[in-house]
Amino acid sequence: MTDSFVTLARTEQIPEGAIRVFRAGGRRIAVSRVDGRFYAIDDICTHDGGPLGEGTLMGDEVECPRHGARFNVKTGAVVSMPAVVSVKAYVVRVLGDDVQVEIK
Ligand code: FES
Repeated sequence: MTDSFVTLARTEQIPEGAIRVFRAGGRRIAVSRVDGRFYAIDDICTHDGGPLGEGTLMGDEVECPRHGARFNVKTGAVVSMPAVVSVKAYVVRVLGDDVQVEIK
């Protein structure tokens, strides 16, 4: 049986409290580590395309560097304006030292 998980990174590439951008399946995906767990959302802000992976991670929220919208990195949900649409959140798993996301 095949699955649709793709290796994006090694665990050591994403320190605790960091967010980094990786590419897979033609997408840019921002992967963060919060309290030892990994989360993945689309890198592109739904407000005006800002690079969320270059934003500031505060707890489980990332602030877009362009106009300051905030998203929950665990769910992709918008936390504050000016964005009003959530970003896609991906299922993440760790196999050994590999951080993998499900690309459907
Ligand atoms: S592009 Fe992200 S808040 Fe405007």
